[in-house]
Amino acid sequence: MSLLVTGLSRLVTNDPSLGQGPLGVVENAAIVLEGHTVAWVGPASSAPEADQVIDAGGRAGIPGFVDSHAHLVFAGDRTAEFDARMSGMPYTAGGIRTTVAATRAASDDELSANVARLVDEALRQGTTVIECKSGYGLTVEDEARSLRIAGEHTDEVTYLGAHVVPAGTDPDEYVNLVTGPMLDRCAPYARWVDVFCERGAFDGDQARAILEAGAKRGLTPRVHANQLGPGPGVRLAVELGAASADHCTHLDDADVDALASGNTVATLLPGAEFSTRAAYPDARRLLDAGVTVALSTDCNPGSSFTTSMPFCVAVAVREMRMTPDEAVWAATMGGARALRRTDVGHLAPGARADLVLLDAPSHVHLAYRPGVPLISAVWHHGERVV
Ligand code: NIG
Ligand code: FE
Repeated sequence: MSLLVTGLSRLVTNDPSLGQGPLGVVENAAIVLEGHTVAWVGPASSAPEADQVIDAGGRAGIPGFVDSHAHLVFAGDRTAEFDARMSGMPYTAGGIRTTVAATRAASDDELSANVARLVDEALRQGTTVIECKSGYGLTVEDEARSLRIAGEHTDEVTYLGAHVVPAGTDPDEYVNLVTGPMLDRCAPYARWVDVFCERGAFDGDQARAILEAGAKRGLTPRVHANQLGPGPGVRLAVELGAASADHCTHLDDADVDALASGNTVATLLPGAEFSTRAAYPDARRLLDAGVTVALSTDCNPGSSFTTSMPFCVAVAVREMRMTPDEAVWAATMGGARALRRTDVGHLAPGARADLVLLDAPSHVHLAYRPGVPLISAVWHHGERVV
């Protein structure tokens, strides 16, 4: 079955060979989806015939958002912690342990239902790929079941046994567990290995040991780096060839130079600064240095409880000095780069048929109309889901 979506005021393809600028924007566009893939893209006036036709009525089309950083396997609630923060308390990584206790106490069904609810919430906001980390189990069995449950909902599964050292555990012993028996049990369920490299979590040497052990088991590194303060995380990520260094809030010139000369995507998570009332990372500085930037939600119950990529786009434009074009690219193609995916994040022929229609004539409205529900239709793997 082929489907022609025509009457698009603008279509963002993210393929400069198909349209204008880095976003490859085609005006007065049409797109043909066939099965799970994009079959054709171009001006509506030269569109081929298809089995079915939909008139987009002047709406804009974009690729589905690729959210490359989320922590969805958890139970419990941290509303009170957020409330206290908004009354002046600082954010500390220690709140993670509250979620760990609730997650350990939850049943598989409860955890899975929560992931399903959040993945669906994200899909309704245009997210067609979402990464999901463990990290709220922190025992061999609780980390393994978190990854198994994540894998029921997404292919992009990340082992984050090294989220924090659990209460009452010796840090060196915990690193031995994360790089030894826990890794053995978890590696089969994951594609990526991550570590929270931060004061109060894991230092540079510990992070290196954890990432190298994961890499030996076939997991590609990604790193929570330089979120709460300066540190070795970003440079370590680049040195180890990590797919992505995430947060990148506190960077010095050497960090920016390392990202610019390496192959590691800088993933910025404006929901975290929003929800912890912290200073935003400077995306402009990274972009001007030639760094590839992705935007993600960091959805988690502590520091960023949002699944909304449109929200992240709007905040990144307003607060992080990105242009609307840069932010939309970072939330689609940037996320695909951060996950080393070539099949998503763009709409060239052959790409996965992940298409979003906006109740707006341009992708710029994602920043121009913050907080407005603009997602009017979503195709995921070629199937209409919204
Ligand atoms: O990415 N930084 C570490 N992990 C999460 C926070 C998790 C939590 O507070 O529960 C983050 O912000
Ligand atoms: Fe995170």
